[in-house]
Amino acid sequence: MGKARRKNENGFLFEQVYDFILHRIERGEWQGNEKLPSIRQLSLEMKVHRLTVFKAFQLLKEQNKVYVVDKKGYYVQIGNASKEAESPPIVTAYPKENQLAAVHAAPVMYQFSQALIDPNLLPNHYLSDYVKKVFDLYPKVLATYATVEGDPELRESLAHYFMNIHKTYVTPENILITTGSQQAIHLIAQAFVKPRDTVLIERPAYSAAIDTFKNQGANIVAIDITEKGYDLDRIEDYMKTYKPRLFYLNPTFHNPTGYVVPVFQRKRLVELAEQHNCLLVEDDAYPDIYFEKQAVQPVYTFDTTGSVIYVRSFCKYVSPGLRVAAVLCPPALRPALITVKSLADNGSPLLNQKIFLHFFHSERMQQHFSKLRIALQIRKEIMEEELSETGWQWESPKGGLNLWVKLNDDVSGSDLLKKAIEQSVSFVPGVYFDPYGQDHSRVRLTYSYMNEVKIKEGIRKLVHISQSLNGKY
Ligand SMILES: Cc1ncc(COP(=O)(O)O)c(C=O)c1O
Repeated sequence: MGKARRKNENGFLFEQVYDFILHRIERGEWQGNEKLPSIRQLSLEMKVHRLTVFKAFQLLKEQNKVYVVDKKGYYVQIGNASKEAESPPIVTAYPKENQLAAVHAAPVMYQFSQALIDPNLLPNHYLSDYVKKVFDLYPKVLATYATVEGDPELRESLAHYFMNIHKTYVTPENILITTGSQQAIHLIAQAFVKPRDTVLIERPAYSAAIDTFKNQGANIVAIDITEKGYDLDRIEDYMKTYKPRLFYLNPTFHNPTGYVVPVFQRKRLVELAEQHNCLLVEDDAYPDIYFEKQAVQPVYTFDTTGSVIYVRSFCKYVSPGLRVAAVLCPPALRPALITVKSLADNGSPLLNQKIFLHFFHSERMQQHFSKLRIALQIRKEIMEEELSETGWQWESPKGGLNLWVKLNDDVSGSDLLKKAIEQSVSFVPGVYFDPYGQDHSRVRLTYSYMNEVKIKEGIRKLVHISQSLNGKY
């Protein structure tokens, strides 16, 4: 078949063009009876021969996805439009919900669903001092934009901070400030993932990251994370087979499990990523919340070839309201990331960055960290104590904000949640953290948001509800 049948690892070229067109029809970008771009236009846009596009159209026609109007061109077949009838007038590219947000929205008295820190444990009182200080130091702070990359003073100070704690070389130019790490994940997905690209993701994984990559149209392939870390042979195999664009990982006090991937695996992972040209996106949201010893070195510190993007959130335990996170990005990838950041918001708010800058480097901040660790450890132990008679299973986490709990066989996390919410208790069913949506036996219980009394009361209620579900009451 000559050039049009050129085959690469993603299949025949015309199949890729077919995928591209079909995907857009399915997403509602091209609607029923809408004229599609011409063969010529598409061949220019996709840099393929016209015959290749023609072949793709033929296949779409055979499958009743498109029809031809003589001398006019190809149109989207209305038969595909059952979804369109229900669609809102504005096209929603991926009308999928953010599952976590839906659970968090439930108004309950016993809140074990949000992986947030109890606001009473944050140094609210002192923050106002820093707000005042910032206005004194920068009287025009509200009168200017920040730069897209983030405030130069903050990036400079964070470069020193990272060099100090990680003993690695970081320059301010490597740093991009984002509005929380959620934005960083979103920007990375936009900059580096095209629809149908394969993305590796841990199983279980932070649910909003799964949703972000899925919404970008990625083909998700999961890698189990256990208390021992990853199966590296499997990762290697997947990298060879699927040629993923990136691997999103949260290797330190992982959400939801609390696991920490051991150092030898971190080193090997970087080698594999380099060999297979797979970007590692390391999400680090809780490194300072440890109960025994400090977290091990992040994966990015073993990278010498620019294979890792490191995303460090400061939201959780510095000040969630400021929404400050930093991305350490290899130089070659910076321009793409900065472009999507500028398209998203032209830079995170300057005031927040300045307040964060002065607060984060203060003596008080360090004292706050040590007190916070103790308070959270106590809450974790109280929750574990309350669960000790249930027969539920979990690995006691050495850091982070959550217990990752396996229920008894006869109860599903989602059923339990339905009943629990009726009685004002919330948590997140494990299935939300499963990229394949199959794990019904686990739940994530956050111990950082409720105080000790509420943890005792709420967990007792939850245990009672679960016992009534499996017929013990
Ligand atoms: C692993 C992980 N990454 C990212 C985020 C998003 O955090 P933020 O946007 O507040 O920085 C969270 C929040 O729960 C998280 O657990």
